[in-house]
Amino acid sequence: MTRLAGKVAIVTGGASGMGRATVMRFLADGAKVVVADLNEANGAETLAVAKANGHGNDIAFVRCDVAKEADVAATVAEAEQRFGRLDIAYLNAGVGGAFGPIAETAVEDWDYTFAVLVRSVFLGMKHASLAMKKHGHGGVILVTASIAGMVGGAGSHAYSAAKAAVISLIENVAAELGPERIRVVGIAPGVISTPLVHRGRPEKYERQFQHQPWPDRGEPDVIADVASFLCSDDARFITGETVKVDGGLLAQGIALWGTGKENMFMKSAGVNRGTTGEAMVVRNLRDKS
Ligand SMILES: NC(=O)c1ccc[n+]([C@@H]2O[C@H](COP(=O)([O-])OP(=O)(O)OC[C@H]3O[C@@H](n4cnc5c(N)ncnc54)[C@H](O)[C@@H]3O)[C@@H](O)[C@H]2O)c1
Repeated sequence: MTRLAGKVAIVTGGASGMGRATVMRFLADGAKVVVADLNEANGAETLAVAKANGHGNDIAFVRCDVAKEADVAATVAEAEQRFGRLDIAYLNAGVGGAFGPIAETAVEDWDYTFAVLVRSVFLGMKHASLAMKKHGHGGVILVTASIAGMVGGAGSHAYSAAKAAVISLIENVAAELGPERIRVVGIAPGVISTPLVHRGRPEKYERQFQHQPWPDRGEPDVIADVASFLCSDDARFITGETVKVDGGLLAQGIALWGTGKENMFMKSAGVNRGTTGEAMVVRNLRDKS
């Protein structure tokens, strides 16, 4: 498929996990890609994989700390110099950040978390939109948020608050940039099997990976496929939206009555007529195979 033919993209955090999977997907879809990441060794490996797939001339690596304005500006400049324009900025880099009880959280760890997860998105939006406006072709700014920014109980205090902040930024900046034909969209992954989560040992986290209703483990390519769609013209009327890609994890919700076949409402069928004085009708489904 060449749905991104002629497009130039930046992918932050593109040296690992869902960022790297998206880099490969963007290349396969015809884009040229600047990978921006702190990890130079993984960046070099990403370039080697792209080269082995025949995309060696379509990719560049920039060592970039997404929390530093000069680095972000330099990454945008690299895309312009190397490939002549900027159409897509995928602001995806991230870390787990501060964790632990609120009273045990150090201010510097809190600030680090917000610098990497929120200041980075502000800086990416600022410099990408400046370039896109200058070139006059419009563009797409895509952000990796998280379901942890949508509900409680999915991440640490700092991480969840930071992801909630970027979901708000996506909406507000989308409204500003719509008239410039710059779309601002987000992906909220559920549990995806990347080194951030499994640290090289996916088998240890099997329970987390299988918490959602959908039977398959979330691999990085499920994010790459949605990223490619959202950055393509097929999604031209979607802006300000953060799309959950979570195998139904949030649809399952707080699961007060159990999940799957253990959900109390799946064990019998009938109608509860409340306190009307009329009898409840119940059919036991347990004996049905
Ligand atoms: N894996 C999940 O289950 C999950 C769920 C929800 C959201 N996310 C988010 O997805 C995004 C990608 O994470 P992943 O799971 O692919 O993790 P990953 O660790 O595999 O990749 C993250 C990349 O970001 C880079 N990075 C970190 N800090 C940086 C900085 N300051 N400057 C530049 N690069 C930096 C890392 O070097 C790494 O290459 C993150 O924003 C993360 O919060 C992940």
